[in-house]
Order: sequence, then C-alpha cells, then structure tokens
Amino acid sequence: MTEEKGRPTIAVLGAGKIGEALLSGLLHGGRQADELLFTERYPERSAQLTSAYGIRATDVPTAAKTADVLVVAVKPQDIEPLLDELAPVVDAETLVVSLCAGLPTSLFERRLPAGVPVVRAMPNTPMLVGEAMSAISPGTHAEAEHLAVVEEMLSTVGKVVRVPEAQQDAVTALSGSGPAYFFFLVEAMIDAGILLGLPRAVAEALIIQSAVGAATMLAQTGEHPVILREAVTSPAGTTISAIRELEKHGVRAALIAAIEAARDRSRELGAAHEPG
Ligand SMILES: NC(=O)c1ccc[n+]([C@@H]2O[C@H](COP(=O)([O-])OP(=O)(O)OC[C@H]3O[C@@H](n4cnc5c(N)ncnc54)[C@H](OP(=O)(O)O)[C@@H]3O)[C@@H](O)[C@H]2O)c1
Repeated sequence: MTEEKGRPTIAVLGAGKIGEALLSGLLHGGRQADELLFTERYPERSAQLTSAYGIRATDVPTAAKTADVLVVAVKPQDIEPLLDELAPVVDAETLVVSLCAGLPTSLFERRLPAGVPVVRAMPNTPMLVGEAMSAISPGTHAEAEHLAVVEEMLSTVGKVVRVPEAQQDAVTALSGSGPAYFFFLVEAMIDAGILLGLPRAVAEALIIQSAVGAATMLAQTGEHPVILREAVTSPAGTTISAIRELEKHGVRAALIAAIEAARDRSRELGAAHEPG
C-alpha cells in the first residue's frame, strides 16, 4: 500500500452495474477521476464510461502496476480468465478486493502470488444511490490497514460492517440479494392496489413512499420492527386483518426459506471454484 503518498488509486476490474455504481459513488464522495481506473471487455462500454465519468479505461497489467487497490467486480462465472490475467502481474503491495458473490478469499490466494492481501466484500445495488449495505471480511494476508482502506472506500457509497468470512454466504443471501425481496414486495403491493381499483400511478406513489417512510422510521428510531408494527396494529382494526392473512399464507416462513435458499446458492457458487 502506498497510502503515505495520499489516497490509494483504485482500479475496478469489470465495470458493469456494481463496478460503475462504485466508480460513480467514489466520484460523488470526492475522489478525483485521476485516482480511479477501470477495465472492461468491450471498447464501446469503456468509451461510454469514460465519457460519462472522465475515468480512464486501462488493461489488467496497467491496472495492477498503477493502482494500490484492485476491485474485482466481474460475475463469479467470469473469474477464472481474470485470475489468469492477474496472477502474473499482481504482487503483495497491491490490495485485491473481491465483490464477487460466493467466491472465497482462498480462491484468490491460491491463484495469485503468495502474500497478496485479499478482502472479500459483499455490497448491494442501492450503491447506485449511495445507500449500499456492504459487509467486508479479511483473507489470510489482509491486515487492519487493508480493512480500513476497504471500509473507507465502501463507506463513500453506503454503510459497512465487518463480518468473519464464514458469514459471507448469509450476508449475500440477506443484504446482497435483499433489495430484490423488497422490490418483489413493493411489486406485489402495487398489484394489490390495482386489484382494489386504484390507478397504477397512485398505487405506486402510495407504496413507494410507504416503503421509504417505513425504512426511514426503522433507520432513524432504532426501534424493533415488532414495536413499530404493533403501533399501527389496533384491536379489531384493518392492519390485524391483513397480518392474519400474511401469517395464514406463511409469508414469514416463505421469507426464511427463500433467504436460506439464497445462502445455499451462494455456497454452491463458491464450491464450484474449490480445488479437486
Ligand atoms: N448486482 C448485485 O446486486 C450485486 C450485489 C453484490 C455483489 N455483486 C457482485 O458484483 C459482481 C458484478 O456484478 P454486476 O451485477 O455488476 O455484473 P455485470 O453488470 O455483469 O458486471 C460485470 C462486468 O465485468 C465485465 N467483465 C467480465 N469479465 C471481464 C474481464 N476479464 N475484464 C474486464 N471486464 C470484464 C463484464 O463485461 P461483459 O458485459 O462483456 O460480460 C461486465 O461489464 C458479481 O461478482 C456479483 O456477484 C453484485
């Protein structure tokens, strides 16, 4: 790490949805475009990103030589060719941060030269609006200073917690995929509004603002969700009639089973890269 010369230069390897959101968030958080780099497969995509953000596209060897931090943001199934490219050009002075769902730090440590520090991070798509929830875990060679660099980087695009790597499959299932569950719920509630005869635009406005309001109450009051729900559940009222239906249809059990299935899929993605 070369932090003594200033803020670390960050290269995003694979600037798709998450990679672009990180680059954009870092710029909004005060990073200069010349402190950032990215690699992409197609020149058209590179040109589009450079014109949108003023950030330079490069290749993997140049990124490894120039940047202090390499953020790997390719799909898990695309990791092998990227590791082939990275292995001959990276060294222990460079911090590798993987955002790849399911991939263990041991995969990177096995494929990269000895001593390369690796941090595994699981963000989520609200990174696009500066509201990501990211969980980070150190690999074998990652020290406190490396975790601090990643924490600082990801806190410019949302909140960050540290967890042992053994909990990353659960994190992936809970907050990595979590926004999709809320989108699904909002979609279903809008459908309910349509069924009840509301115009779609009105149903959308009602539910989206209710979601924003509920999330803000949870975040700002620090109250347990049960307390907040009980406060709107009056005896013989409308809310308890709805809650009875949710319980009757097993919505709580469905959510628990769904998140468990996502955890299992994350494990499978990681296991596909285990040796032997
Ligand atoms: N989306 C999420 O909610 C989320 C949340 C947490 C973590 N993640 C993780 O973030 C990673 C990226 O996800 P994403 O949704 O952003 O995927 P994505 O949109 O497909 O982005 C990946 C990008 O990497 C490019 N790429 C692939 N191989 C490359 C290589 N060797 N060199 C340079 N660029 C390369 C891809 O190009 P092509 O388009 O040409 O393939 C694509 O633009 C995944 O590992 C995922 O598990 C995603």
